[in-house]
Amino acid sequence: AEVYLNGSWIKPQQATISVFDRGFMLGDGIYEVTPYYSGKAFKLKEHLDRLQYCLEEVQINFDAYPIAEIMAEAIERAGLAESDAAVYVQITRGVAPRTHYYPEKISPTVLLYAYPVKLEGFENKEWKVLSSKDKRWHRCDIKSTALLANVMANEEAIARGYDENILVRKGYFTEGSHSTIFFVKHGTVFTHPEGPHILSGVTRQVVLDLCRDLKIKVREDKVHLDELVEVDEIFLTGTTTQIVKVASVHSLEKEIFTPRKDTVTRQLQEEFLKLTR
Ligand code: PDD
Repeated sequence: AEVYLNGSWIKPQQATISVFDRGFMLGDGIYEVTPYYSGKAFKLKEHLDRLQYCLEEVQINFDAYPIAEIMAEAIERAGLAESDAAVYVQITRGVAPRTHYYPEKISPTVLLYAYPVKLEGFENKEWKVLSSKDKRWHRCDIKSTALLANVMANEEAIARGYDENILVRKGYFTEGSHSTIFFVKHGTVFTHPEGPHILSGVTRQVVLDLCRDLKIKVREDKVHLDELVEVDEIFLTGTTTQIVKVASVHSLEKEIFTPRKDTVTRQLQEEFLKLTR
C-alpha cells in the first residue's frame, strides 16, 4: 500500500526523506498509533488530542485534527475498510542544518500509513514479562519517536524469550516498553498516575472508565516491587495490545510473580470487546 508523505501518496520504496530531517538525525518527532476495528477508528479524538498535546509540548507547529481525514483515506487506499488495522502517524520538526535548538521557519515532515493488525484473541494470550530498569527520560508523557531506551529494554526481553517488559523506576513500576501496566490487589485496580513518567495511554483511560462503570475500585497510584507479593493479577494494555493477562514476571535471576487469579482481567477483557465491536 501507498504511504502519505508531505501531501502525496507514494509507494514506500519512493517515499524518501532528507538525511537532514530532524526526525532521522535527532529523533526530533512525535508519533501516534490509532486502531481501526473493522475499518472504524476507535477513540480517534483521544488519539488526536494526545498528538496535539505532544506537538505543542515540543513546539512543532502542526494542527493534528485535519489529518483524521487522511487517516481514513489511508485505510481506504490500503483496502482495509472492512478489516482490523492501525494507522501510524509521524510528524517530525522538518529539515534543517543540524542544531540542538529549534530552527526557525521549517515545515514539519508528515508521514502516515495504514497496516493490518490482529485485534482479537487477546483473551487467549498470556504474556511472560521481564522486569527491567526504566532508563527512559523524564518526559515519557511525550510520544517521541526517540524510542532507543524502550527499544533496548524490549530487545532484552524478546532475546530472552519474554513477550514484554515492565519497567521499574526507583523501585516503582511505571509501564511496559510499549504498553500500560495494571495491577489488581485486594480487589482494587492500580495503575501509575499520569505525569512525566508514563505515556497517558488511550487504552489506560478506557480501562479506568470501564472499572468505574463496573464499580471496580481503582486507584491511580504507583505499585512498588516489594508489593508484588500482595498482587493477585497483572495485565497490560495498549492500542494493539488491548488487554493482555500477565502469566509471570521475571527478573534476570528468578520468577518474581505468578498470578493467583484472573477474574478482574477476564471481566475487563469481556467488556472491552463489547466496546470495540
Ligand atoms: N505504544 N506506554 C507506552 C510506552 C507505549 O508506547 C504505549 C503504546 C502505551 C499504550 O498507549 P495506548 O493505549 O494509547 O496505545 C503505553 C504504541 C502502540 C506503539 O509504540 O506502537
